Amino acid sequence: MSETDYMLAVEGLTVSFDGFRAVDDLTFYVDRNEIRVIIGPNGAGKTTVLDLICGRTKASAGSIKFQNEELRTLKEHQIVRRGVGRKFQTPSIYDDLTVFENLEISFPRGRGVFGALAFRRDAEVRDRVEEVAKTIFLADALQRRAEFLSHGQKQWLEIGMLLIQQPSLMMLDEPVAGMSVAERKKTAELLHTITAGRSVLVVEHDMGFVEDIAHRVTVMHQGKILSEGTLAHVKADQRVVDVYLGH
Ligand SMILES: Nc1ncnc2c1ncn2[C@@H]1O[C@H](COP(=O)(O)OP(=O)(O)O)[C@@H](O)[C@H]1O
Ligand SMILES: [Mg+2]
Repeated sequence: MSETDYMLAVEGLTVSFDGFRAVDDLTFYVDRNEIRVIIGPNGAGKTTVLDLICGRTKASAGSIKFQNEELRTLKEHQIVRRGVGRKFQTPSIYDDLTVFENLEISFPRGRGVFGALAFRRDAEVRDRVEEVAKTIFLADALQRRAEFLSHGQKQWLEIGMLLIQQPSLMMLDEPVAGMSVAERKKTAELLHTITAGRSVLVVEHDMGFVEDIAHRVTVMHQGKILSEGTLAHVKADQRVVDVYLGH
């Protein structure tokens, strides 16, 4: 297949579970600086698409090109190292560590460094932690233990733990579930900030939030793409209304 300018090029992606095609011949492309939202009814295959891209589930057919490199043959940790970050629905933060420590342990480990070099590295890590904390609205909470954060702040912290690894593609599964309206607005703002230079792929149900963030929307139904385009475009598509928005 040919080289593309897309950050992510998914072509013919298919996975079967005991003969059931959860994702069925899926083709879509995501640009750099783009926020793409995948919507669709429960069981459409949205989470499975994220599982396939991050290597947690192995595809039966098709290709997943990330910056023109095939991911299908790579292991999960190799895909992370290539620059793909994935946030799951339940945050996997360390409750008994502070915000600072949670971010610090997520900083990518280089080769072992000693003496003056280690000292310089410490400063670099501290600078990055502070910068990321500011981005995720937690600059004033660096010394707070994660267990005392609000639900929304915990979600932001996990986004920060991905951000500190500077992924080129960030994937988030229902990031605003359980958040207050104010937290949803701030999360939308956060996603716009972090999209610069990378791509963001979000699975989401909250249509107000989708409206705030999506550059383009891919609608899935029964493992396939039902419709794709701007939110206005897919909202005007009668098939989307019939299987999803009308409910
Ligand atoms: N590991 C698995 N084994 C068997 N079936 C699965 C597995 N993962 C997902 N499925 C099935 O694939 C379909 C799509 O699931 P999912 O991707 O979670 O949907 P969505 O996120 O759109 O709600 C569902 O019918 C689900 O039961
Ligand atoms: Mg899901």
